[in-house]
Amino acid sequence: MNAFDLSRLRPRLPSPLEPVEDERFARRGLTLLLKREDLIHPDLPGNKWRKLALNLEAAEGRPVLTFGGAYSNHLRAVAAAGRLLGFATVGIVRGDELAGRPLNPSLTRCAADGMRLEFVDRATYRAKNDPATRALLLERAPAGAYVVPEGGSNALAVQGCVELGRELAGAADAVGVAVGTGGTLAGLAAGLGPGQRALGFPVLKGGFLGEEVRALQEAAFGGPRGEWTLDERFHGGGYARVSPALEAFARDFEARHGLAIERLYVAKMLYGLTALAEEGVFPAGTRLAAVITGAPDAPPSDGARPSGASPGGRARPSGASPGDRARPSSASPGDGGQPADSSR
Ligand SMILES: Cc1ncc(COP(=O)(O)O)c(C=O)c1O
Repeated sequence: MNAFDLSRLRPRLPSPLEPVEDERFARRGLTLLLKREDLIHPDLPGNKWRKLALNLEAAEGRPVLTFGGAYSNHLRAVAAAGRLLGFATVGIVRGDELAGRPLNPSLTRCAADGMRLEFVDRATYRAKNDPATRALLLERAPAGAYVVPEGGSNALAVQGCVELGRELAGAADAVGVAVGTGGTLAGLAAGLGPGQRALGFPVLKGGFLGEEVRALQEAAFGGPRGEWTLDERFHGGGYARVSPALEAFARDFEARHGLAIERLYVAKMLYGLTALAEEGVFPAGTRLAAVITGAPDAPPSDGARPSGASPGGRARPSGASPGDRARPSSASPGDGGQPADSSR
């Protein structure tokens, strides 16, 4: 274990696997289990832990440079890891107009954890993977910085998610997971055993995520691994869109099972899995595991709602927004947006 081994932070691993009683599943002879990745660590919940663990080991204490939108949970997780393990962090934040404004709560937390925030215009942000632009951005970080991509999904992140699949060995026949950049699904599927399969629920529209998952598996393992499929029907209009039906579903699920549901990813996956169960897609006797990849932020001070999602529209990123990034539905998941910004 090196000094930058996240296991120093005493994660709750393997994450708990909890059976829940849900009549929509039970009446079709299905078992529903919740894989509580949200309980792994308070500052690095769910797939944040899985994706960062091997990357931070590889960084070996060098400064870490990463990217995100103004509401990025990934930025927050990297900043928290830097504080907890004692390495420097730099966050390249999309939107140079933010530079002169008070920080939102999410970026305030990043800064409080010691992250240096560098705001860049959208064109530069979009070009961040071009070698020339990347070199310029690296100049904003201390020499020798280790780069973690937007959303944290790279080959090491995918390898880190393999353990999630392994923890489910023998316990479930099909495993539902939300898909944003594809890294979690790519690793999960690789870790599952024979006869098990992963069902990915993209939270973005566009139908491009299958290609992303294949590319990530190629980068991580040199080729395809495991059984996985995507069901593209449950993005609900696009990234950070929370329809009244989805909001009602999530509230009902919270009431039934006493569990706060993150809206932008987890709610869409649970909605999709429940719909598939009700469509009769799974034979009786199937054991379904739903991966709870994250938790909502703390409730707003009025305590009125369990998440920052606004029914009927985009999630509300101010205050206690639950998801990574609020932004236009056509956007890609790593590069969050401004609440009022529907242009790119
Ligand atoms: C809570 C939550 N669930 C699921 C995902 C999707 O993971 P991935 O981007 O690896 O597909 C994310 C994004 O990081 C997330 O924040």
